Amino acid sequence: MMEQNSTETIKIRDLFFVPLFTEADIRARVQALGTALTEQFGDKNPLFVSILSGAFVFASDLIRRFEGDCEVSFVKLASYAGTQSTGAVQVVMGLEKDLHGRHVIVVEDIVDTGRTLHHFIELLQDKSPASITTVTLLRKPDAVVFPITLDHIGFDITDRFVVGYGLDYDGLGRNLPGVYQLKS
Ligand code: XMP
Ligand code: MG
Repeated sequence: MMEQNSTETIKIRDLFFVPLFTEADIRARVQALGTALTEQFGDKNPLFVSILSGAFVFASDLIRRFEGDCEVSFVKLASYAGTQSTGAVQVVMGLEKDLHGRHVIVVEDIVDTGRTLHHFIELLQDKSPASITTVTLLRKPDAVVFPITLDHIGFDITDRFVVGYGLDYDGLGRNLPGVYQLKS
């Protein structure tokens, strides 16, 4: 159950969260990312590959800020249970598209340890794309332990669990228009 009160603290199941980024903060940042990607790939018909489930909200906004032809695809990788990273990365749903010679833009919601993206980029490299560009809405800089290059980052945040704008706590919170951080 989600409850909202006047102090803007929200409760999701057993945990309390406070606002971190508003809908307007996110919109401005997504616009800037879309502009940067348009400059880079506006005439190259890139393939946006969104990592489900968390990135679906970000991806849907980002592609609408991209000007030019583009295609969109989804991949489902599971590496997370509750609020702590688990060891394994599991491919639940794969890529059907032929990536050979394509400019691939990987869209992720949040990079924590980097395990998910590191693993996924290795899979992509085997499919000989023309280029791989990584975009993440959020990055927890203190937590990145796997080597990955992030080309575009929405916001750097502290290493604290967040929900909203596609991100969930135990399935809930994805529909929140802003991003909320676990209350200390
Ligand atoms: P790694 O460690 O692989 O983690 O970089 C990235 C994946 O873990 C999930 N994740 C979160 N999900 N709030 C969430 O709702 C968080 O604070 C959080 N941190 C990591 C996310 O699914 C991402 O794909
Ligand atoms: Mg999640």
